[in-house]
Order: sequence, then structure tokens, then C-alpha cells
Amino acid sequence: MKQVQDYIRTIVDFPHEGIMFRDVTTLFADPRGFRMAIDQVLHPYAGIDIDKVAGLEARGFIIGGAIAHQLSVGFVPVRKKGKLPGRTISQEYKLEYGEAIVEIHEDAIKPGEKVLLVDDLLATGGTAEAGIKLIERLGGEVVSTAFIIDLPDLGGRRRLEALGKEVLALCSFEGG
Ligand code: PRP
Ligand code: MG
Repeated sequence: MKQVQDYIRTIVDFPHEGIMFRDVTTLFADPRGFRMAIDQVLHPYAGIDIDKVAGLEARGFIIGGAIAHQLSVGFVPVRKKGKLPGRTISQEYKLEYGEAIVEIHEDAIKPGEKVLLVDDLLATGGTAEAGIKLIERLGGEVVSTAFIIDLPDLGGRRRLEALGKEVLALCSFEGG
């Protein structure tokens, strides 16, 4: 039977030379692939107390919405700067070149709420760490983090685990 990673397409030299881009659109577009991925993310959280799912823009919204629906909890978007209409708090993080900012609505998470943070891919962990910081600044507790893909050579798992966070990933690709 096909596994989650078998549905993920690799595009060579995108967005620039030397990068092997792991493209989850082929996983999301396949009825069996998408269901398998969502079901596998959900499985370890059966019976776990979760109040909200937070998703990282943009591809984290696709799985985050499906997971929140299945858990019957609310979904909270962590968005790139300037996209959210209400009062927000911001967090800077490092990209390969330069810096970026993500934001969350300041009333999106209540103190003490237990949050599952999701995204499609864990690379350096910079984006996820920024999401964790935003949630924790609002008083939320990040009970776990979940990704479809881990790129272990880029160190994101170690970085999040060093923050004391659980990291779940459905598959990994060596060599970035
Ligand atoms: C990609 C990916 C993760 C992030 C992982 O998103 O979807 O969100 O990079 O990288 P990191 O672990 O090194 O932070 P990208 O910033 O390309 O934006 P997008 O999801 O909006 O396309
Ligand atoms: Mg992303």
C-alpha cells in the first residue's frame, strides 16, 4: 500500500538551484493520500486534551483546518505580517536569507488553553518556534507539534525538542 511519503512530489531546483522542494500539493490532491495524512496526524492525539489547533501559514492551514474539524475544536491561524484584521502580537524569525514576521490575534488563545501546532514541513524550525512563542506569549500551552514532513538534516526537531516540545512527523527526507 502507498504510504504518505509516496504521495509527496519532489521538484528539483525549486525555488532555486540545489533545493529539492517537497511538494505536498500532490498529497493533498489525492483522496486517499489526504485522508491517510490527516488520520495519521490525529492518531496519537486520541484521548489527549486539546483546546485549539493552530496552523502556520500557508500550508499549515490546510491540515490544521481538517485536524481541528476532526477534534471538534477551534482553529487559529498564525499568519504572515499584515494579514490579520484584529489586534495582533508579532514574532520575528530568521529565514535562509533575512527575517520574517508572523502574527496571531491577541484574543485567539486564552491563558491556559492547550494548543496543537501544525504545519506541513519542519526544516530549521524557525517558523514553528515563532508560532510557539506567539502561543506562549498569549498564555497558551503548546502540548505538541505535528508536521507531515521532517527534514532532519536541518535541525528543526532538535530545536523544538530543546524547547521541551513534542514533535510528531509522518515522514522524513534525508539530505534536505
Ligand atoms: C515553509 C514550510 C514551513 C517552513 C519550514 O513555509 O511550509 O512553514 O517553510 O521552514 P523552517 O522550519 O526552516 O522555518 P514557507 O515559509 O515557504 O511559506 P508558505 O508555507 O507560506 O509557502
Ligand atoms: Mg509554510
